[in-house]
Amino acid sequence: MKAQINGIELAFSDEGRGQPIVFLHAFPLNRSMWNPQIQGLKNHFRIITIDLRGHGKSEAPMWRYSLDQFAEDTKNLLDHLGIAKAAFVGLSMGGYILFTLYRKYPSLFKALVLADTRATADTPEAKVTRFSMAQIAYKRGSGTIADLMLPKLLGPTSLEHRRNLVEQLRHMITTNEISGIVGDLMAMEERPDSTPLLRNLKIPTLVIVGEEDLASPLEEVQDMAKHIPGAKFTIIPKAGHVSNLEQPELFNQSIQEFLGK
Ligand code: MLT
Repeated sequence: MKAQINGIELAFSDEGRGQPIVFLHAFPLNRSMWNPQIQGLKNHFRIITIDLRGHGKSEAPMWRYSLDQFAEDTKNLLDHLGIAKAAFVGLSMGGYILFTLYRKYPSLFKALVLADTRATADTPEAKVTRFSMAQIAYKRGSGTIADLMLPKLLGPTSLEHRRNLVEQLRHMITTNEISGIVGDLMAMEERPDSTPLLRNLKIPTLVIVGEEDLASPLEEVQDMAKHIPGAKFTIIPKAGHVSNLEQPELFNQSIQEFLGK
């Protein structure tokens, strides 16, 4: 499905019935990363997945990428769908966006799931790497970005045994426009430190991490969970950064247990 939101066409899916759960994807992927969650959870919940601007089947304008803009796109799409309150699941960059969305619209949140993400801002070194990566995307294209990202996205177990998953992720990355990839990098580079927000998250929160996550290491994610009052914390074994794709049953089970039903 598509809707005109904030001047561009946004693609999304809306399946199932019941309590709405909104899923925000990682960099530099698209909403198809949530297909196992749609399949596994749509009999119990209303599942909304969104191609963020610059990704998948959404438009990829040349400019206007920021976490604030992604949050506004999400809010306006939910208004369009008549959803005033939902549970939100964000993986990695999706989690960064949820921190921004919560700062702006806390009353939208019924519950929060932060998967394989972090609250801290980029270090000065990480900011330099974002810029180099943007230059690589611009000069060498999305295939090179896929080569660089795949070993960070998937854990060693999946890299060794899940050829199909490697190809599925490569396809998601290489079908994104360069403007979207570079836009994400700029948006993430300038994100603020959300650590001070953690103790003010006044909603039920679940934090998930893949045991083999290299991009958001387990210890750092666990430490983030400790700062969120009452947060539940789950480790997904034999999964890397995209734990929802690497171990979909375990990921779905923890969401189902957390949200009840
Ligand atoms: C992601 O998966 O969204 C990225 O690893 C986030 C990041 O690069 O900080």
